[in-house]
Amino acid sequence: MAQIFLLLLLWSLSCHARLVNRTIDDSLGDPVTGFRPIFLPTKPGVWEDQTCKGCFIQPDRGRAFNGTWTAATYHPELKHISITLEFPGVAIYVFFILANGGLRNGTTANTECNFTLDGVYARAFTHQPDLTSTNLEYDATAFTVTGLSNNTHQLVISTNDVDHAVFVNFDYAIYTYVAIFNTGVL
Ligand SMILES: *[C@@H]1O[C@H](CO)[C@@H](O)[C@H](O)[C@H]1NC(C)=O
Ligand SMILES: *[C@@H]1O[C@H](CO)[C@@H](O)[C@H](O)[C@H]1NC(C)=O
Ligand SMILES: *[C@@H]1O[C@H](CO)[C@@H](O)[C@H](O)[C@H]1NC(C)=O
Ligand SMILES: *[C@@H]1O[C@H](CO)[C@@H](O)[C@H](O)[C@H]1NC(C)=O
Ligand SMILES: *[C@@H]1O[C@H](CO)[C@@H](O)[C@H](O)[C@H]1NC(C)=O
Repeated sequence: MAQIFLLLLLWSLSCHARLVNRTIDDSLGDPVTGFRPIFLPTKPGVWEDQTCKGCFIQPDRGRAFNGTWTAATYHPELKHISITLEFPGVAIYVFFILANGGLRNGTTANTECNFTLDGVYARAFTHQPDLTSTNLEYDATAFTVTGLSNNTHQLVISTNDVDHAVFVNFDYAIYTYVAIFNTGVL
């Protein structure tokens, strides 16, 4: 009994679980796992990045994570647009760039999407533009979930079957990875 206790004590001294945040950039992806977000549909002219010259909404590259974003304007004919993320972690935080009105008349600035985690609907996110402001909002938290089991999860961000235009701009996500550190006591 005492021996088992001693072993457990030594084990707990030598191995520590530590929470580490990692990022998934829209363009760079996750530098640790190599995963890159999947943007659908892939046909040209739907998802555009910071190099888009014809896009009405032109965020400031200096305020976007790693200087990049990927954005789409959903139209009812598209029926379905989505971003898929995969991450080995226990929490995820998704950050959008949000637009407001007053940019140019008729520009779609409202953001609406559903979040589906591991195949199960989790939450909707909606941003109605402030018509009196031309400012964009950076690092806007669109979705957060914590307390997940420690394994690989899939998060799908989608806009489906909506009867009006919607703007979606994905900048990056942060997820929490549970690392085990061996402190070398044993
Ligand atoms: C990870 O990032 C989120 C969002 O910024 C933050 O709330 C959380 O405290 C961070 N967790 C760790 C372990 O750094
Ligand atoms: C984006 O990340 C890449 C890879 O880490 C780095 O080489 C590059 O300098 C970064 N760019 C900006 C604008 O932060
Ligand atoms: C937008 O359109 C409305 C109505 O047509 C007009 O009153 C307003 O001045 C326009 N705003 C801009 C910024 O062009
Ligand atoms: C959590 O899962 C990852 C793989 O998904 C694994 O590398 C890591 O060691 C796990 N952490 C713990 C504390 O089990
Ligand atoms: C969210 O999902 C519901 C149920 O499937 C759907 O009716 C609605 O159009 C979706 N909203 C968006 C913004 O995709």
